[in-house]
This record gives sequence, structure tokens and C-alpha cells, in this order.
Amino acid sequence: MTTVLETPDAVTLTDDPTWWRQAAVYQIYPRSFADSDGDGVGDLRGVTAKVPYLRELGVDAVWLSPFYPSALADGGYDVDDYRDVDPRLGTLADFDEMVAALHAAGLRVVVDLVPNHTSDRHAWFREALASPKGSAARARYLFRDGLGEHGELPPSDWTSTFGGPGWEPVGDGQWYMHFFAKEQPDLDWTNPEVREDFLATLRFWSDRGVDGFRVDVAHGLVKDVAADAADLPTQAELDARTTLDGQHPLWDRDEVHEVYAGWRAVFEEYRPARTAVAEAWVAPTRRARYASSAGLGQAFNFDLLEADPDARSFREIISRNLRAAEESGSSTTWVFSNHDVVRHATRYGLPPRGDDTTKAGTAWLLSGGAEPVVDVARGLRLARAATLAMLALPGSAYLYQGEELGLQEVPDIPHAERQDPSYFRNPGVDAGRDGCRVPLPWTTSGPSHGFGEAGAHLPQPAWFAAYAVEAQDGDPASTLTLYRRALALRHELQTGERLEWLEVDGAGGAGADVLAFERPNGWRVVLNLGSGAVDLPGSEVLLASGPLGADGRLPGETAVWLRA
Ligand code: GLC
Repeated sequence: MTTVLETPDAVTLTDDPTWWRQAAVYQIYPRSFADSDGDGVGDLRGVTAKVPYLRELGVDAVWLSPFYPSALADGGYDVDDYRDVDPRLGTLADFDEMVAALHAAGLRVVVDLVPNHTSDRHAWFREALASPKGSAARARYLFRDGLGEHGELPPSDWTSTFGGPGWEPVGDGQWYMHFFAKEQPDLDWTNPEVREDFLATLRFWSDRGVDGFRVDVAHGLVKDVAADAADLPTQAELDARTTLDGQHPLWDRDEVHEVYAGWRAVFEEYRPARTAVAEAWVAPTRRARYASSAGLGQAFNFDLLEADPDARSFREIISRNLRAAEESGSSTTWVFSNHDVVRHATRYGLPPRGDDTTKAGTAWLLSGGAEPVVDVARGLRLARAATLAMLALPGSAYLYQGEELGLQEVPDIPHAERQDPSYFRNPGVDAGRDGCRVPLPWTTSGPSHGFGEAGAHLPQPAWFAAYAVEAQDGDPASTLTLYRRALALRHELQTGERLEWLEVDGAGGAGADVLAFERPNGWRVVLNLGSGAVDLPGSEVLLASGPLGADGRLPGETAVWLRA
């Protein structure tokens, strides 16, 4: 693989501080994107080599999941050093070269910041383990004395988000708290040294030309963890507490916004001002403060990702989020897939989940995808239709690598090849997130479908060949072509930040399954999630997610862009 770039007509990025408001942002999971050195792990030079691909795809920015040094206890979200590159993924010089190449192609760069926890190999944590109880080194984390005569029992019965206990003993009667895996000790964000250090990290990457940050677990940083274990609430008490008043001991506390006000001051030191998007799994009503221009600027809205493809719920979600965006002054974000959830082309091929709105919903994957049976064709049809409609909404669209190929989740990764801690910490219950992190297929043949010259760090199934870029490139009916056309047209058509709902008629009440809207410039969008055909409210078809009926009507499970 070559990293020589052909960008004859380099694009100049503007100083527009609002570039992100309606950007299409492509998430790269670097270890699974492209492997330039044939070690089975994707790397930064791999990203650089694919800049022409990203440019042709037509996205405005890339967001890179963590590429920092890490033992990969949680796919890189366990960071050993916030200001370096994992040697398996490259060097800081490779990073600079990648940013230069992306910028020259007109693409902005967003990096992932993981402030809630370090890894257990971070210099601070090693120092904490080597230092006595009560030391300044331990005060950067949440160490507490255990219960029992010698501290042999955990300070509380708290559980980790990945399953299993939320405390880990260190052998001297003390335990440290971790929301996630035990290799991810939580920092104490009431400690000024922790706060200062992250400001240095923000400047480090901003100085290297990074345009923005995706903030991991943004709602979890500041916690109220009593010094004395006897004063800690039980897990049941925590679960019973509302998370809506800003006072929950662990989640979405009001004080976290003081941290982000400090970050905002750093963002404003740069031209254009740096920006950020919060990964905050909070109630919709609680998102505005993260998205405020005095804070991070934008917050993920996972409502569509969590919903079944149903016209009524989609419409309610879209209206609510556009209203919220207007109130916060930010723009909203739309997401169907990311590195934490089952790919939406697969999710939509599953029977409706009804009330089970768990974000990952991966339990079925434990059966290797056999139960319930996934209707792959339907999943892909619905994903293409829903995405086409989403790309016409006001706000930013976040796309996850591989969705432009209509890639399906890999359900049957052998136990021995699994990597995700949520799989290992929930035996038999959670299949984890490896199935959406399998390296991308670029070519139809070759050792790892063009991902690299050797194997892939998570095994690619044979059926990946049909989804390869090579198989789809130039095929007018392919999902890749649909994304390219949609993103190019979106550039031309993107306008204002409003929409108006349209009513569409269909035989036998089919209109109830339809979502239709118009943007101020006459750009009309119809998403038919039902099975019956509906009339088109316009004659000039710009793009459709699938074939239209011979009668010119819009069939079920299809979306269309029109001009009035
Ligand atoms: C976020 C990331 C996820 C990670 C977790 C802990 O939710 O998206 O991948 O496991 O934070 O850092």
C-alpha cells in the first residue's frame, strides 16, 4: 500500500467557526480501517492512503476513534498516553502527515478524547500503585478503603457498565473505582491537576491542527464519591436516584459543565475555534448544556439509533431534536451506527424490538445470528432508505465506517478471537461489539480483502467480498454509489436548519408509514417505511434509495429526494 497522495487540486479550508453545524462526519475506527504495514492492525498511514477514497465519498470531516498507545483492553478507549500515537498505528509524524493530507483534501479532523478514565498502564496510574494510600498520586483517581477488617471487601456493591464489579483491589486494603473495565481506572475530576492536564492535551492536538474533539463518556467525569466507604450509596440506591436533576452521584452532574467551560476557553484560543461533540447518554432534555456554545458545542443525539424504523417515532424524534437544537443554539446530530452498536443494516433486518430499547441489543448475536433470523435484504433496504432521509435532515450526520458499503454485523466471531470486554464481562449475555469492528473489505479477494497485506485482527467472513469497495465502485445500484451521490447532492442542497412536514397519501392508509418533509429551498424528501406504495409529492426525482415503481410511485422500504 502506498501513502503517496494525489491531491492535485488541494482545497483550502476556511476559518468558518461553524463548519461543523451541518457537516457529514465519517467515523474511522483506525485499527479496522486500512493496514499499511501488513501487521493485521489498521494504522494512520492506512488512513492517509485512503484520503482519496474519503474525498470521493464526499464527507466533510473524519472522526478518529482512539489511536493512542493502549493495551487494547477496551479497543483503545484505555489510553496509556494522551499525547502520543500507538507505535502499532504509527508515529506523531504519521499523524501530522495524515492531518495535512486530510486538510489538503478539504476534510476536517476530529479526534477522540477519553477523559473519564486512563488505562491502568498510564504513568499516573502506575505512580498511584507505587505510592501509598493518601498520596497525591492516588488522589488523581478514585481510591477508597475497602470494607471488612483489612479492607478485603469492596467499598460498595457498585457494578461496572461492562458488567462485573465496579471496584478493583490493589492489595493494600484500597480499591479503585472503574465505570468500565478494570484496566480503565476512573480519574477524579475534582482534582485540579487532572483538569489542568487535559487542557494541555486539548492544546497539544489543537496545535497539531486538529479541528475538534469527540468527548467520550462526557456525562460521567465529575462524581460525588464519599471519602468513607460507609457513606457510599448502594447500587440499588443509585439505580433508584433520578438522573434528571444534575445531582446523581455518578452521572450527568451539573459540575461537569464547569469542566467544559474551561475547555471552551481553550477552543476559543484557536482560529477557527476548535469544536467538540459530547458522547453523553443523557435524557434528551439534559443534552442542551453539553451542546451549548459555552460548553462543548454539540452533543450526540442517539434517538434515531435507539428507535425502530417507524415513521411515527422518527417524526417525533426529528421534531423534538430540531426544537431542542433551536433552543440550545447548537445544531443537532444524527447517528444510526457507530463502534458500540449493531450495524443498522443488520438491526433493521431483525424483528422489531418493541420495548427492548437497550442500545446495543446484541444478545441475539450470541446465537451466531441464527435466532432470530436476520432478513439481510430487508435490513439493507431499510438502512439505505432511512440513511437517505437522514442525510437530508438539518444538522450533522455522523456515519460509521463501512455503513457506506451497507456492511452487515459479523455475528459469529469465534470465542477465541473476541476482543471486547463487554463480551467477556457478561458471559452468555452480551455478544459485545466486535461484530461491527471487523476490518473493512476493500477488495473482493486477497488475504484480508485489501485491508492489508496480512490477516485482519478480527476475522473477516467470506461474505465480506460482496460488500467490498471494489465490488461496489462504479455500480449504479450499489450502496457506495448511493452514499456518494447523496453526499455530493447534500453539499449542493444543504440549506438553513429548518424543515416543514408534508402529508403524503397512500392507498389503504399507507401514509401512516411515511415521513415526508421539505427544506426551505424546495428539497423534498419522502421516506416510506411501510410496505405499500405512495404518491410522490414532486416530479423531479433527484435520488432514490431503491427502484421506483413502474407507475412512478414510491414503493415500501424506499426513500426519495425530489424537487417540488
Ligand atoms: C464510550 C465508547 C466506548 C467505550 C466506552 C469507555 O462509550 O464509545 O467504545 O467502551 O466509552 O471508554
